[in-house]
Order: sequence, then structure tokens, then C-alpha cells
Amino acid sequence: MKLAFFGDVVGKPGRSAVLSHLPGLKARLRLDFVVVNGENAAGGFGLTSQIAEEFFSAGADCLTLGDHAWDQREALTYIEREPRLLRPLNYPPAARAPGKGAELFTLPDGRRVGVIQLQGNVFMRQSLACPFAAADLALDQMPLGAVADAIIVDMHCEATSEKMAMGHHCDGRASLVVGSHTHVPTADTMILSGGTAYHTDAGMCGDYDSVIGMEKAEPLNRFQRKLPVERMRPAEGPATVCGVAVETDDATGLARAIAPIRVGGRLSEAAVSFWSAPSMT
Ligand SMILES: [Fe+2]
Ligand SMILES: [Fe+2]
Repeated sequence: MKLAFFGDVVGKPGRSAVLSHLPGLKARLRLDFVVVNGENAAGGFGLTSQIAEEFFSAGADCLTLGDHAWDQREALTYIEREPRLLRPLNYPPAARAPGKGAELFTLPDGRRVGVIQLQGNVFMRQSLACPFAAADLALDQMPLGAVADAIIVDMHCEATSEKMAMGHHCDGRASLVVGSHTHVPTADTMILSGGTAYHTDAGMCGDYDSVIGMEKAEPLNRFQRKLPVERMRPAEGPATVCGVAVETDDATGLARAIAPIRVGGRLSEAAVSFWSAPSMT
């Protein structure tokens, strides 16, 4: 199976880039299933139903969120009626968080893809329940190669160590463990020893002439003066679409190959070549 995950879409430039590149990428790479992290799509903060529908129309099969899940209040109700939208799985039960954090999707050809979103606890604004225990429960419910033909885990957190630990925790039980949240792509796409594809962070889909997607002036001001002067606004230059593509073995659900995708904007381009896709433009 051919899967792709795209990192946090930031504001209008990120949305425009994803909407213009995703349909072509999905066709050229013959992607069976695409996950997009949408937690910063609405002006940098959260996701609206209208924006989500645009991503679905452009080829996203599932959208994930993160610590910005509820920045747009309509997400609290939209997620209850849209099963393709996931929030972090590991909210403590007392939170009674709406929506779901894991889902098993059935493709038109009958193959099934599981998606699980987890939120880490290191250096995050809010601690949730243990993501490792949550991963165990979800993976037990959709065993790879038995119930699910492929499983994508979006590990949403700040610390590279926590993401890498989650990769090893799920190794052999998921097709792909990929990080989101830091908005900067890492250079460590690899297949772990147990057969799970891994990437510490997919990077954002946004304007990299920025501080993690936001106009530079206000973050610089806050780092130096410790006082907010104005609202954070997404940087408005051309965005780079950042993600990762994985090919899995249908017999086991484990990864055969993984490669980064970077297209447009300021970052150096990275194209997927391992399933002989034509070059991306
Ligand atoms: Fe985040
Ligand atoms: Fe984010």
C-alpha cells in the first residue's frame, strides 16, 4: 500500500499549497491513503469544518489535530459528526473529549488502514494521559497484518526523544510512526529494526520564511521582551508542502520504503523515487 502523511498545515499559505499540490501528488504517487495534520490550518490556530472539507476534497482521507485541536470552538462539535477527523487519543477519561483518537478506515478495495493520533507529554503546554499505554490499547484493537492492512501513528509532541521512543514502542506493530507539532522536518526517515517506517517530524506545510510558520516580528519580540505586542499571524509567503511517503508490504503491513516529500516554497525539494513516480513539479 502507498501512504503519505503531511505535517501541520499553517494558515492560508499552507492551505493553498496543500490544495494545489495534494491532488497531483496523490495521483502521481498513486497514494492509497493520505493523512494531513490540520491543527494550525485556520489562521494558525485550529481547524474549521469548511477548511476540513477543502482538504477532504483535495484528497485527504483523514485529518489529525493536536494541542491546537479546540482553538476553533466549532471543532468540538464538528469532530462528533466527522469520523475522518481525529484528535489525540490519550485524553484522560475525565476530560470527556469529543470525537475519537483512532479509527480504522476501509478503502474502496476492502483494505483497511488504521490511523492513531497520540500527544506527547514532554515540553507540552498540557499533559495528557500516557501516550505509550494509549498506543498499546489502540494497536491491540487493530493488529497489523490481521485486522489492519496498514497503520499510521501521528505522534504529536515537542521532544524528539519522546517521538523516537514512540517509534520504537510501536516498532513491528505499525506501518509508520511520524511526528508532528514542531513544524520543522527532520532528516531521519528510516525503517526501524522491526519493520516500522519512522520519521521524527514531517515538518509543517507553511511558509518557512517565518518562526515555525508565524510572521517573524512577533515571535522575535516575545523572545526578547517577554511581552506580547500583537497577535501571532501566519507568514504569508509561498509555503513548502512537507510530508513523508511510505510503501508497505500488503502481506505484513510493515514498511518496504520511506521517503520525505518537500515541494514548493523555500525548502530544498525532496521527491519520492522508490516507486518510480515521475518527478514532482
Ligand atoms: Fe501542536
Ligand atoms: Fe502545529
